Amino acid sequence: MYCFRTTISVFDMFRKKLKFLILLIVTTISLGFIMTYMDFYQPRIVPCFQVTTQNNVSTTTGSTLCVSATSGHQFEKRRPDSCSKHNHAAFLKVHKAGSTTVMDIFLRYAIQNRLNIVLPKRSDGFGFNYLGYEETLLRDNLVPLQKYQTYDILCNHVIYNRTAFRSILPNDTMYIAILREPIRHFISSGIYYYFFDELCKIYNTTNSSKAISTFLNNPSALDMATTYFHNKMSFDLGLPPSQFENITYINNYVQELDKDFALVMILEYFDESLVLMKRYLCWELQDIIYLPLNSIGEVKYPMLTFEDEKNLRKFNFADFQLYEYFQNIFGQKVQAEGPLFFQEVKHFKLIQQKVKNYCNSTMQSDKSYYPLMVPRSTWNKEFFITHSDCKFMSQDELLLMHNLIEEAWGRYNQSLKTKG
Ligand SMILES: *[C@@H]1O[C@H](CO)[C@@H](O)[C@H](O)[C@H]1NC(C)=O
Ligand SMILES: *[C@@H]1O[C@H](CO)[C@@H](O)[C@H](O)[C@H]1NC(C)=O
Ligand SMILES: *[C@@H]1O[C@H](CO)[C@@H](O)[C@H](O)[C@H]1NC(C)=O
Ligand SMILES: *[C@@H]1O[C@H](CO)[C@@H](O)[C@H](O)[C@H]1NC(C)=O
Ligand SMILES: *[C@@H]1O[C@H](CO)[C@@H](O)[C@H](O)[C@H]1NC(C)=O
Ligand SMILES: *[C@@H]1O[C@H](CO)[C@@H](O)[C@H](O)[C@H]1NC(C)=O
Ligand SMILES: *[C@@H]1O[C@H](CO)[C@@H](O)[C@H](O)[C@H]1NC(C)=O
Ligand SMILES: *[C@@H]1O[C@H](CO)[C@@H](O)[C@H](O)[C@H]1NC(C)=O
Repeated sequence: MYCFRTTISVFDMFRKKLKFLILLIVTTISLGFIMTYMDFYQPRIVPCFQVTTQNNVSTTTGSTLCVSATSGHQFEKRRPDSCSKHNHAAFLKVHKAGSTTVMDIFLRYAIQNRLNIVLPKRSDGFGFNYLGYEETLLRDNLVPLQKYQTYDILCNHVIYNRTAFRSILPNDTMYIAILREPIRHFISSGIYYYFFDELCKIYNTTNSSKAISTFLNNPSALDMATTYFHNKMSFDLGLPPSQFENITYINNYVQELDKDFALVMILEYFDESLVLMKRYLCWELQDIIYLPLNSIGEVKYPMLTFEDEKNLRKFNFADFQLYEYFQNIFGQKVQAEGPLFFQEVKHFKLIQQKVKNYCNSTMQSDKSYYPLMVPRSTWNKEFFITHSDCKFMSQDELLLMHNLIEEAWGRYNQSLKTKG
C-alpha cells in the first residue's frame, strides 16, 4: 500500500515535470519563432571578442569621424544624411586578407564620384599595380596630379609609413586597413603562392601537412625567401622586420597604428567590417555592395597540428600580436555602435545575397536583364543594380588598374597641353 502510493506520487511528479518541460519547450520554440519572424532577434557576434564591459570606449581615431564612436545611441538618432560623405580615404591593401574586394569598393566609389585615385605610374609589367613594392609611398612613383588638385583615394599595395603617407595625402584622410586571423592567413598565402607545393618539393614528400610541420619546426633552416609568409600583415603595415621579435617595439607600434587608423577591419567579420566602414565614411549602403574577388574558392585546406600552431605563433609572433590587438578594438567599436548595428548588418547581408543572385543570372547571358531594384529601407535609399554594375564588380583587377592608369595619364597630359 505504502509502496504503491509512493510509486503513484513519483509517477505523478514525473508527469507534472514532464508537462512543465513540454510547456517550457513549446513556449521557447514559439517565442523564438515569433521573435525571429518579427525581426526582434538580433544576431550577435559570437566568438572571441573580448568586448570590454565599460561604457567608455576610447575613440582611437587618427582623423575626424562623422560619428563619435563612444555612443551608439547617439549615432542611431542621427539621420545618415546628417553627415557628409568622406571623400578622402586611404585603404591599406594587406596581402591575402580579402583586400582586393575592398579595393574594388574604393575604386568604384572613386570612379562614380570622379575622385583622384593615387595610382602607380607604370601601367603594365610585373608588379605594376603596386604603389610601392616592399617600399612606402613616394611621389616619384605615382601618376602626377594636375595643378591645384589633391589625391582623394588610395587603395593599392604599398607599405604603410605615417610620415610618407601624410606628406602626400590630405590631412583629413581617413585611414582604413584589414587583417585576417593569422593561421588562416598563413594557410591561404601558402596555397595562393604555391609555397606548400614548394615545401613538398624541398622536403621530398607528397604530404603537405608533413612538409608544413617540418618547415614550422625550424623555419630558419629553410634556404628560401619567406617574406610572404613571415609576419606579412605587420610588414604591410610598416613594422620593420628587424623588430619582428621585439615585443616592446611591437606593442608601441600597434598602439601608434591604432591612433592613425580610424578602422582596422577583420576579415572574419567582413560584412560587419564593411557596415562599420560605411558608417565611419558616411557612405551609402549601395557604395559597399560587392562581389567577392580574388578568393581561392573551394580547395582542401591542410590541417595544422597543435604543435604546428605553436610554432607558427612563434614564427609569426608580430602578426598574432597585431591581430589580437585589433580584433579586440574591432569588438569595442562594434559594441559602441549599439544594437541597431546588427540589424543593419543583417539587412546588408540580405541585399548582398540578392545582388549575388542577380549578378549570377544576368552574367550568364549577355542580354541585359531588368536592373535589380533595392527598395528604400531604414538603412538605404532606393537604388538599382544593373547588368553593367555586375560586370564592373567582377572585372579583372589588373585590367581595371591598367585602364585607370592610362586614363589618369591621359588627363594629366591633356592638362599640360591646355596650359602650354
Ligand atoms: C568615462 O570617461 C569619463 C570622461 O571621459 C571619465 O570621467 C570616467 O571616469 C570614465 N569612466 C570609466 C568607467 O572609465
Ligand atoms: C618613413 O618615411 C620617412 C620619410 O618619408 C623616413 O624618414 C622613415 O625612415 C620611414 N620610416 C620607416 C620605418 O621606414
Ligand atoms: C596639413 O596640415 C599642415 C598643418 O597642420 C599644413 O601645413 C599642410 O599643408 C596640410 N597638408 C595638406 C596636404 O593639406
Ligand atoms: C624522395 O623520396 C623517394 C621515396 O619517398 C625516394 O625514392 C627518392 O630517392 C627521394 N629523393 C631524394 C632526392 O631524396
Ligand atoms: C601526412 O603526415 C601527417 C604527419 O605529419 C600524418 O598524420 C598524416 O596521416 C599524413 N597523411 C597522409 C595522407 O599520409
Ligand atoms: C626593442 O624596441 C625597443 C623600443 O622601441 C628599443 O628600445 C630596443 O632597442 C629594441 N630592441 C632591439 C633588440 O632592437
Ligand atoms: C549561378 O547560377 C547557376 C545557374 O544559372 C547555378 O548553377 C549556380 O549555382 C549559381 N551560382 C551561384 C554562386 O549562385
Ligand atoms: C603621357 O605623357 C607621357 C610622357 O610625358 C607618355 O609617356 C605617355 O604615354 C602619355 N600617356 C597618355 C595616355 O597620353
